[in-house]
Amino acid sequence: MVNVTGSRILGSGSALPERIVSNAELAAQIDTSDEWIVERTGIRQRYIAGESETTASLAIKAAQAALNDAGLTASDIGLIIVATATPDNTFPATATKVQNALGCNGGVAFDVAAVCSGFLYALTTADSLLTTGMAKRAMVIGAETFSRILDWEDRTTCVLFGDGAGAVVMEAADCVDPAHEGGPGILASRLHADGANHDLLYVDGGPSTTQTVGHLRMKGREVFRHAVVNLSSVLNEVIEDAGVSAQDIDWVVPHQANARILDATAKKLGIPPEKVVVTVDQHANTSAASVPLAFDVARRDGRIKPGDLVMFEAMGGGFTWGASLVRV
Ligand code: UT7
Repeated sequence: MVNVTGSRILGSGSALPERIVSNAELAAQIDTSDEWIVERTGIRQRYIAGESETTASLAIKAAQAALNDAGLTASDIGLIIVATATPDNTFPATATKVQNALGCNGGVAFDVAAVCSGFLYALTTADSLLTTGMAKRAMVIGAETFSRILDWEDRTTCVLFGDGAGAVVMEAADCVDPAHEGGPGILASRLHADGANHDLLYVDGGPSTTQTVGHLRMKGREVFRHAVVNLSSVLNEVIEDAGVSAQDIDWVVPHQANARILDATAKKLGIPPEKVVVTVDQHANTSAASVPLAFDVARRDGRIKPGDLVMFEAMGGGFTWGASLVRV
């Protein structure tokens, strides 16, 4: 029996832009096909933000849905972390916009930039800050408008990404034996980065270099290879840290980059594909938003239930990668 001071997830929410863009619509504009996109990635459609939709507006909608789900009001939230690589402005942090819109000004609010692993970095940071007593409750959001940094003439990248936001509300808690079904809580988390691989996935602009926003550039095949290796390794670390076995995991909620990466990673761990939440077909790759979006979808459709053991995992630009095991 292990009692740890830590944190737990109280609720979740998500938001998507109004406009859906199908593979066929893209194939009418660039040299690609529905067959190629589905076969290589599993993606069938993506949501693309309209003029009035921004990373902050999607984040605010997701946060409001998460507050409703948790049965809380904004005044309960003392810490907001937004994971994003596509902030509304270079500064201030998108989290401060979210804070002001929710109406819980005065607490802690900042952004985390770890691209597709951003939600894992934000969740782990919130868990640490809640554990130290910095706040009692936190809103952790992954929100992106990657459509704004895509080169729409580069078929090797523009078909892969979409826009959206997902959020979870967390609370500081004495977590009673979450590894053995005692109660909810974050059991274990691991984060990594390796700056040597910067050039495999990056944006070719920025305020301090080109004074432009830039476009996403990726060597997809090489990222794919690193993703499977790094994710398998970090998942094993977290499983070992938590003192559970892969068979104990009820659901894996992975970063939704490519259905083939999800399959390969689950296979390496010996986790059956039925236990992997897949939304890449609907949302494409929404970077930091993809894990909380997929988590919210699977909670709301009844797949993920209270008491389930859920593994979050992600890998992205940097490279950065990480995983967290949570009893919900
Ligand atoms: O979220 C951060 C993490 N990101 C990822 O995890 C992404 C990881 N990488 C991948 O998901 C895959 O590598 C991709 C989906 C990006 C690409 O799939 P692939 O099977 O690795 O294809 P490839 O890059 O090796 O390209 C194969 C062929 C090439 O043609 P040639 O050189 O064989 O003649 C490409 O030019 O497919 C061509 N191609 C396309 N064809 C039609 C590339 N993009 C397209 C496209 N439509 N959109």
